[in-house]
Amino acid sequence: MIINNSTILLTGASGGIGQAIAKALAKRGASLILVGRSKESLQTLLRVLPNPERHDIVVADITSLEGLTIVKESARQHQNVSALINSAGSNDFSLLSHKRPTQIADEIQLNLVAPILLCQSALTWLKQPGVILNIGSTFGSIGYPGYTSYCAAKAGLHRFTESLDRELFATGIRALYLAPRATETSLNSDAVNEMNRQLGNKTDSPQVVADHVVIMLEKEISTKWIGWPEKLFARINQLLPKVVSSAIRKQQETIHQYINRVSH
Ligand SMILES: NC(=O)c1ccc[n+]([C@@H]2O[C@H](COP(=O)([O-])OP(=O)(O)OC[C@H]3O[C@@H](n4cnc5c(N)ncnc54)[C@H](OP(=O)(O)O)[C@@H]3O)[C@@H](O)[C@H]2O)c1
Repeated sequence: MIINNSTILLTGASGGIGQAIAKALAKRGASLILVGRSKESLQTLLRVLPNPERHDIVVADITSLEGLTIVKESARQHQNVSALINSAGSNDFSLLSHKRPTQIADEIQLNLVAPILLCQSALTWLKQPGVILNIGSTFGSIGYPGYTSYCAAKAGLHRFTESLDRELFATGIRALYLAPRATETSLNSDAVNEMNRQLGNKTDSPQVVADHVVIMLEKEISTKWIGWPEKLFARINQLLPKVVSSAIRKQQETIHQYINRVSH
């Protein structure tokens, strides 16, 4: 797609990655519809974007049907939205046995059900040609302790995006999936950041993710994993999951030390 002069709807716009995506797209001449629950955070973002008068904010909780309706109405009013980026997401790093059922349900709702329903809605308001970009995670390809329900949701989002892209073949709408690795945002607690440092897991700046988003949109690349060795592990996990299991097993003591720190 051509980003300049396009209109793009972005969920999770006020988040660490969302803000970097918004800045990168606005700099390239896109008009944005910025979605989030906090009006104040969205207004703060709007003030630092190039050409603030070209962008709109939409305050909506996308885990509710009311919120989804608000997003749909706003997208329809614009009439010319050519891309939807689903970046809203959250996770809770804790053992499955320590999670409340509502936490699990909320995680699946925000990371999987909401983007699916937004994609379905987008089919009624996206211009053709149009692009959908779902932000997943390395954890959508690699099951990791402490992230069971998040891994399930992101794996589901990956397969959903792949199915949708194939379902939409020749309609002029593409569905793309980007899997970042750990990224410096407030999504990750201090304990998670410390664990990543101790395990030698690399962390990207949100700008790195935004740069990948721009390339994916411009070239309409189906799927991308960010970072080595994560993109290699994602593939090895499909072919030889035992190899990845044994690598994670060596990290088990450290992982459990940090899970216990946040879940008690
Ligand atoms: N950071 C990482 O390490 C990392 C790694 C891989 C993948 N990712 C993925 O990248 C995406 C962005 O993550 P991030 O790091 O930018 O997270 P973040 O900084 O915590 O931002 C999350 C965003 O989601 C929005 N949000 C949360 N609940 C919502 C709801 N119910 N309705 C509407 N919006 C909601 C938040 O806005 P409000 O709270 O104002 O609503 C915020 O804009 C997520 O899908 C995440 O899973 C992140």
